[in-house]
Amino acid sequence: MIALRPSSDRNVAKRSRSWGRMIRGLSLMSVVLLVGMPVSPQSPRPADEIERKVEALLRQMTLEEKLGQLQMLDGDADGSYRPEHLDLVRRGLVGAFLNVRGARRVNELQRIAVEESRLKIPLLFGFDVLHGYRTIFPVPLGEASSWDPEAVERAAHIAATEARAAGVTWTFAPMVDIARDPRWGRIVEGSGEDPYLGSVMARARVRGFQGHDYSAPDRVLACAKHFVGYGAAEGGRDYNTTDLSERTLREVYLPPFRAAVEAGVGTIMSAFNDLNGIPASANPLTLRTILRGEWTFDGFVLSDYTAIEELIAHGLAADGAEAARLALDAGVDMEMVSRLYARHVPHLIKEGKLSMAAVDEAVRRVLRVKFRLGLFERPYADEARERALVLRPEHRAAARGIAARSIVLLKNDGGLLPLGKNLRSLAVIGPLADDQKNMLGPWSGDGRAEDVVTILAGIRAKVGPETQVHYAPGCGITDAACAGMDEAVRLARQSDVAIVVVGESAEMSGEAASRASLDLPGRQLELVKAIHATGTPTVVVLVNGRPLAISWIADHVPAILETWFAGTEAGHAIADVLFGDVTPGGKLPVTFPRSVGQIPIYYNHKMTGRPPDPRNKYTSKYLDEEVTPLFPFGYGLSYTEFRLTNLQLSARRLRPTERVTVSVDVENVGPRTGDEVVQLYIRDVAASVTRPVRELKGFERVTLRPGEKRRVTFTLGPEHLGFYNRQMRFVVEPGEFRVFVGTSSVGGLEASIEVVQ
Ligand code: BGC
Repeated sequence: MIALRPSSDRNVAKRSRSWGRMIRGLSLMSVVLLVGMPVSPQSPRPADEIERKVEALLRQMTLEEKLGQLQMLDGDADGSYRPEHLDLVRRGLVGAFLNVRGARRVNELQRIAVEESRLKIPLLFGFDVLHGYRTIFPVPLGEASSWDPEAVERAAHIAATEARAAGVTWTFAPMVDIARDPRWGRIVEGSGEDPYLGSVMARARVRGFQGHDYSAPDRVLACAKHFVGYGAAEGGRDYNTTDLSERTLREVYLPPFRAAVEAGVGTIMSAFNDLNGIPASANPLTLRTILRGEWTFDGFVLSDYTAIEELIAHGLAADGAEAARLALDAGVDMEMVSRLYARHVPHLIKEGKLSMAAVDEAVRRVLRVKFRLGLFERPYADEARERALVLRPEHRAAARGIAARSIVLLKNDGGLLPLGKNLRSLAVIGPLADDQKNMLGPWSGDGRAEDVVTILAGIRAKVGPETQVHYAPGCGITDAACAGMDEAVRLARQSDVAIVVVGESAEMSGEAASRASLDLPGRQLELVKAIHATGTPTVVVLVNGRPLAISWIADHVPAILETWFAGTEAGHAIADVLFGDVTPGGKLPVTFPRSVGQIPIYYNHKMTGRPPDPRNKYTSKYLDEEVTPLFPFGYGLSYTEFRLTNLQLSARRLRPTERVTVSVDVENVGPRTGDEVVQLYIRDVAASVTRPVRELKGFERVTLRPGEKRRVTFTLGPEHLGFYNRQMRFVVEPGEFRVFVGTSSVGGLEASIEVVQ
């Protein structure tokens, strides 16, 4: 049997860095491979020198000062600090702030830390920069729809550049939670349902935020969150309990975190949720055994907002002292907002309930990262740089580009799209058509509504003078009444084409934004129906942060674009796609259900003993719903057409440690230049533990001119073919594997390989 350490991303990393590989142990029975370990620590600074400085500082610190380094306090939403913070910083009782930002304000606090506090330890300034700082990119779920890690990395780099210029040294991103439940509002913050795609995106974002050296003036320290299992909240209700087998945890929820650690992420945020009975912010299995032990993570762990105090509400800790002890013992180094470490650790140590060594270890981790950030040498932000760097034209251009790449064409009957730029008249309808604020989506950093190009503005800028553009909101997003319906219908009747922009407001996804219904809110579906009933060819443009149940629209409306929350340049990017300056090439990173009752529904599910069979009642089905999704994972159309042919494998039989290449021709057989995302899936046909019907193991987005053909090659190795066996060892077992290469998680070309001992 071959035991391996799993990894991922080799099939998209070709054009990026090549990840180091090394063999750690070798015996007759097992080979332990460490695939994709961090190439280097995040900073080129000699590690020993940093460790010496950390130890020297630690020796001078009082217990109070040590606990100060483990404390993060919250500024106000507008970026200001509170008056009482000044004194706390002066006394060395705070190690980091969240939300305080802007070069001037950050410098004010930092000056007190490095000039007036006894040990002159600089502060960290953290902020949620998930998809842009001032220039806002599509929400992360949207960016993931691009299936383009290089574009995602670029977006994160620009976000880092702007944030760092504004004094933010640390982003609470990437959010790498796998989410299989669209009711959960936070699905918008991550990369969807798949561990492979999620890992690729996690790596891309960590590289984008941190670069090779996060002390650089255009980089920030990253924080992979929320460790772990948060996305599996029961009922899709935020903050709710999760119960996951260790196998599901290791195979589905942990891989993106591991990928982030491999990419050198400096910090990890422990999650709010209860995980198998032990809340994630006090869970020694995940925080110590896996993160520090197995993955050798040497950065630090920050709790989520008051998550340590919440151990009491969870029923794990009887009081604040116990909560502090459990969290620190489990390996949560820094406490966000609640102040239980500062309050209780001194007496816990005195009573022998906690060791000074545990405190020192946490402080060491925090200081190490501060040194790596270069804060001791360059603690201040540069106000001139802030003014020069935010919202630069090239940042906006990049945001427009990736927003267009993130758009998914869900339907295009009769080639209604792209629209001609010289139509006589166009009706632009819907509550989100001329909306600036909502285009930013949730967690929009310092993004401002006034910077946003609305969809209406984007369309107006695109069409020629001969096209009359009529606009009517029709109804509100959530309103019970729909006063503007008649006017919208009237305008649609007069127009050659109607574009109806419907969806959710930004607050309807993100944190504390779970929904029990996936329908379009308010009267929006009625609005779509009324416009469609006019007989004017209708395009639905969706603006939303989660898969919506849009069966009626999918059945009746000829053209549908999924645009997510597309950011500052939303209107331009959407118009680029509507009018064919950009051919859409995005693919869904998450399954769209037909109705909420199908949840959880995800492509990489297990088979069942009784697969659905329409002729047999006693098979796995619903009485009142299909079992198939409305749109599957990996799905997305184009204005052109692609054909995959000539699937070839370099070998049909291989040993468990060997690799096989899989190659295919992809040809643009349609009329326009466009992109296809070629996707590689596998299925382990019979194994000692049942395996998913399909698992994504590689993808590549290619751009082809009409008639152009390209050969795309993937490599399958042990890290792709392996899984956790009954002893929870990562193994490749002998037997048959099906290989699928296609343009979504359904269908495609097929072949088989056999792994032999
Ligand atoms: C969220 C985190 C976020 C933190 C700081 C929490 O409520 O769960 O994702 O980073 O607040 O804003």
